[in-house]
Amino acid sequence: MPLITWSDEYSIGNTELDNHHKKLIEILNGLYDNINKDCNQIMVSTMDELYNYAKVHFSEEEAYMKNLNYDGLYRHTVEHNKFIDNLLELNLSYKSSCVDTKQETVEFLWEWLMNHIINEDKKICR
Ligand SMILES: [Fe+2]
Repeated sequence: MPLITWSDEYSIGNTELDNHHKKLIEILNGLYDNINKDCNQIMVSTMDELYNYAKVHFSEEEAYMKNLNYDGLYRHTVEHNKFIDNLLELNLSYKSSCVDTKQETVEFLWEWLMNHIINEDKKICR
């Protein structure tokens, strides 16, 4: 069962970037569906996928914002970088031990992603 389904209210007015956000939501839905399947393997592989996809997405989003002369770009880039650091840290902890905080991790990822799209990314629509 997915936690979140895409809705047009999440659109930031750019089809390609919206598709990236849909993909990020899909990755997190997959994680939510499989969270209880094994110890940490699903966390590690999903965090790897999320990290790789988010890096590409963030750099394309930042390039788009730069093109728009978006004045919040610096602050926005800091937010992206912090999230990437968080992903690396989380992945490292799942790789090194069988930590039982999967539920909290998934909640953190959802909260960050949806808050970021709705409250930060959408500012470029205005
Ligand atoms: Fe963003």
